[in-house]
Amino acid sequence: MVQILISGILGHMGRNVLELVREDADTECVGGVDLQEGELCGVPVHAGFDKAEKADVVIDFSSAANLDNVLAYAKRTGAAIILAATGYSDAQLKQIEEAAKEIPLFKTANLSVGINLLQKLVREAAEVLGEKFDVEIIERHHNLKKDAPSGTAFMLAESVNEAFGGEKEYVYGREGMCGARKKAEIGIHAVRGGNIVGEHEVMFAGEDEIITISHSARSKKVFAAGAVKAAKFMCGKPAGKYNMQDVLADE
Ligand SMILES: NC(=O)c1ccc[n+]([C@@H]2O[C@H](COP(=O)([O-])OP(=O)(O)OC[C@H]3O[C@@H](n4cnc5c(N)ncnc54)[C@H](O)[C@@H]3O)[C@@H](O)[C@H]2O)c1
Repeated sequence: MVQILISGILGHMGRNVLELVREDADTECVGGVDLQEGELCGVPVHAGFDKAEKADVVIDFSSAANLDNVLAYAKRTGAAIILAATGYSDAQLKQIEEAAKEIPLFKTANLSVGINLLQKLVREAAEVLGEKFDVEIIERHHNLKKDAPSGTAFMLAESVNEAFGGEKEYVYGREGMCGARKKAEIGIHAVRGGNIVGEHEVMFAGEDEIITISHSARSKKVFAAGAVKAAKFMCGKPAGKYNMQDVLADE
């Protein structure tokens, strides 16, 4: 039985994860952490990690601002971590790289299997289509999302950029007299509205044809299911940095 602690348990994703953990015969939620103390479906919720139960894996769907606390808990208890929050700064990304030398750490901006397939497809498309096609990424999310562009849009941009040897530069939105589009650009655009769960579109625009590869998440459950799958994979793993591709390869 994989024992799981959910960080950000009172949020939208935390609640979805709890539901799936409770339905899964191989997993058990031993506790939760959020900003307020209390209880959710019989699971104790702590304000901070100090009194949190020991677990095999902590799934963090709280916020990038909680990184120090999640890492400290994992170092103290030996738990593996699933870092599922988005919006980490460059300094925090370095901190995550360092921490992975000491603890088993899984990080992805998107836990859906479909998006991880999309990553491979856009890289392949970029390799085949090459410099003649302009790449633009458009992401759409609900009006409560705090960070922009989405971590997934970055992840997709990185996959495209790998095909170009990392030489592309990212341009976020465009405004005013910004001049003609440069070949080296990958445009990234964030749309916010209503209750859109998460949509990502990668457009390759050429002279006479346009290829669009897109993914639309219809429910937050798809991310919660990925988190539980990742937690089972991470249980007992040695220190190191893991992602969804490792989980899929294992299957
Ligand atoms: N990786 C993925 O596939 C994926 C999918 C969906 C959402 N996300 C990310 O997960 C995060 C949460 O999304 P959500 O929609 O559930 O948001 P939410 O606002 O509904 O939930 C966040 C929860 O975390 C709690 N929280 C915030 N800061 C905290 C802190 N410092 N300590 C403890 N608890 C804290 C909040 O009180 C809240 O209950 C966001 O960063 C979002 O971008 C990632």
